[in-house]
Amino acid sequence: MTGATRLVRACLRQPVDRTPVWFLRQAGRYMAEYQAVRKRHSLLEICKQPALAAEVTITAAEKLGVDAAIIFADLLLPLESMGLDFEFQAGEGPVIHTPVRTPEAVARLRTDRAEDLSYVAEAIQRVAAHFRDRLGMIGFCGAPFTLASYMVEGGGSRNYIHTKTLMYRQPDAWLALLEKLAAVLREFARQQVEAGADVIQIFDSWAGALSVEDYREFVLPVTKTLVREVQSFGVPVIYFGVDTASLLPAMRETGADVLGLDWRVSLGKAWRELDYACAVQGNLDPITLFAEPELIRRRVRGILDQAAGRPGHIFNLGHGIVPETPVENVQAVVKFVREYGGEERR
Ligand code: CP3
Repeated sequence: MTGATRLVRACLRQPVDRTPVWFLRQAGRYMAEYQAVRKRHSLLEICKQPALAAEVTITAAEKLGVDAAIIFADLLLPLESMGLDFEFQAGEGPVIHTPVRTPEAVARLRTDRAEDLSYVAEAIQRVAAHFRDRLGMIGFCGAPFTLASYMVEGGGSRNYIHTKTLMYRQPDAWLALLEKLAAVLREFARQQVEAGADVIQIFDSWAGALSVEDYREFVLPVTKTLVREVQSFGVPVIYFGVDTASLLPAMRETGADVLGLDWRVSLGKAWRELDYACAVQGNLDPITLFAEPELIRRRVRGILDQAAGRPGHIFNLGHGIVPETPVENVQAVVKFVREYGGEERR
């Protein structure tokens, strides 16, 4: 079985020869090869030059021996095409210079320039040509809520006060904002699928900030439509969030093929509570990668034991690899998954 087949079949809950494995942020600052490229280019330069983005993507996937490559890009790229400038400030993360906080600001956002994002599709084409079927090719985009939260807050946030204020007090503007985002994200995902993405992951990284009621009322409907539209391009969708234990049943209602689980839930219990109605991805704590290999092995084994060989598990972390993570420990996880992830196949 090739990596691409293994990944796509697992997304669709079909039996595979062994559990597929890849990592959130597998290309990043913890890897010397990435740092070397980063010394010469800014993050946005790497994203926007398909040859560089492809190189970074391929190098990381090959070094780790994973089953899938996730295209090197960033969640925030669509903001620029909608008319919002942003930058990455060292140590502070992304900063959006003019946050979107009024109906007028929402009305000004453009949705007719998704073509500007074609550099991501071009990078995917290069990676797909390199790996062919050997590895699965994962494209991605942000989810409407998480991208809206960056637009409204102007960056990362702790309490999402501006975001929730707009959501509660200007529900029409909020809906218009999510719909505009979804329109751009759909086209962005379409470009990526046409370029060779086998799977699209939709990152709703900060959905965990929402109550179940707010998620259902203000976020689920638009997200569900986006998931369905991306699936209509012919690929499975992985829907990912962090701190989502209480949201999982509502997130499942998006109809996503796979839900990302973080380490705060037990994979076995969460999957059972989802009635095994979707596949699951996860859920090692990324900070476990700082432990001794023996403990890492036990944790990997524990997660695979919980999945119990049931079709539809993709091994991953519960969130992205952080800087300073020892690369050899990430490689060790791949080895352990290969060792144990082929047992008990049904
Ligand atoms: O290998 C991969 O996973 C693909 C690359 C990737 C990046 N960003 C590159 C990147 C992916 C999948 C993302 C998604 C992304 N971007 C998310 C969702 C994932 C998640 O963590 O939940 C979010 C929230 C963003 C926005 C963003 N970009 C943040 C908050 C930051 C961190 C700022 C910092 O300085 O730590 C970034 C920067 C970023 N994007 C880096 C990488 C490798 C690290 C910074 C760098 O190289 O300068």
